[in-house]
Amino acid sequence: MCLSKTQNAKMEFFLVVFEIKELGVLYYWVFFWCYLCRVVESVGEGVEELKDGDTVIPALIAECKECLNCSSGRTNKCLKFPVSLSGLMPDQTSRMSVKGQMLYHMFTCSTFCEFMVVNVNFVVKVDPKLPLPHASLLSCGFSTGFGMPWKEAKIEKGSTVAVFGLGGVGTGAIAGAHCMGASKIIGVDLIQNKKQTAYAFGMTDFINPNELDGRSISDAIKDMTGGLGVNYSFDCTGVPSVFNEAIEATLEGTGVTVIVGTPKEPTVPFSPGALIHGVRTLKGSIFGGIKPQSDMPALIAKCVNKEFQLDRMVTHKIALDDINDAFQLIKQPDCLKVCIEINGKSAS
Ligand SMILES: NC(=O)c1ccc[n+]([C@@H]2O[C@H](COP(=O)([O-])OP(=O)(O)OC[C@H]3O[C@@H](n4cnc5c(N)ncnc54)[C@H](O)[C@@H]3O)[C@@H](O)[C@H]2O)c1
Ligand SMILES: [Zn+2]
Repeated sequence: MCLSKTQNAKMEFFLVVFEIKELGVLYYWVFFWCYLCRVVESVGEGVEELKDGDTVIPALIAECKECLNCSSGRTNKCLKFPVSLSGLMPDQTSRMSVKGQMLYHMFTCSTFCEFMVVNVNFVVKVDPKLPLPHASLLSCGFSTGFGMPWKEAKIEKGSTVAVFGLGGVGTGAIAGAHCMGASKIIGVDLIQNKKQTAYAFGMTDFINPNELDGRSISDAIKDMTGGLGVNYSFDCTGVPSVFNEAIEATLEGTGVTVIVGTPKEPTVPFSPGALIHGVRTLKGSIFGGIKPQSDMPALIAKCVNKEFQLDRMVTHKIALDDINDAFQLIKQPDCLKVCIEINGKSAS
């Protein structure tokens, strides 16, 4: 889902809270993180980068430009503003509650609300020419995917690539690989419908694992790359069994696999042999290695210039009143992202 908000929108709710016990991941009340685009209402003392009325997107991560990591040029993992996974503010408190019960954040910026107070390092200014639904896609999934070949793996022109999972993140990874000049981009997804959009973003070949007659995905990928495997593979599924296939699908000696998909389980089965004897590299990534302040302007400019068919990613639009339908829509095979329009008219 993504959530866009216009400056003049008047919403009648203040907090939207979900109990996501049923997902089996988090066992507390949590204030949702959502792909989002916002308008600055006011800025605090000392903030010079933004002014009232600016269009911004909150980012998963921040960038201080000064810490050991930010100044290394090698990673986007800022040490001064770490991503909070505890659900709490840096002072280990939460400022939110409902009916007397404490609310936890989801990641650092909990975005699913009418107003949010946020550290300026966690927002990125966007060109107001960018349609709001497109801007909201950039606040997480598409950027994360795009960054994997661009910033995390820094692939070379002519590289061969496999992208596992063709959702919002995988589509971004396809677009990133295409922009970096990959010669072959193999997309893998269990859902046939996902392939049309992926082709529009630069995919050259498609594999549906259900149609391999018992062959492994990595063998199918090797067959498509002269028996050797791809230079780079990107996991955008979060499915543990895919991780090993993604590693096995790469070229021995130099193959690199980047994982962003987040499994539900804290530990997953893993075959180290493919790394050790195959002399391959496995990397994790958050936000695709993209630095919000230094790197996002270039990606935003590409989107303003309509270099990608981002409209194809917003497969459904619904009004806020119909938000419950979004949870059903997101499971449909033809759905990539559901855009919740704050001012939209309810279908019912
Ligand atoms: N690390 C980060 O910074 C970061 C940021 C955003 C999202 N994520 C994670 O990335 C993953 C993908 O996010 P998304 O929004 O694209 O999700 P999505 O649900 O839209 O896409 C996942 C795709 O994977 C496909 N898939 C599922 N199982 C598969 C399998 N066994 N083989 C092949 N394809 C399979 C699905 O059909 C779907 O098209 C999630 O785990 C999400 O939590 C991580
Ligand atoms: Zn830093």
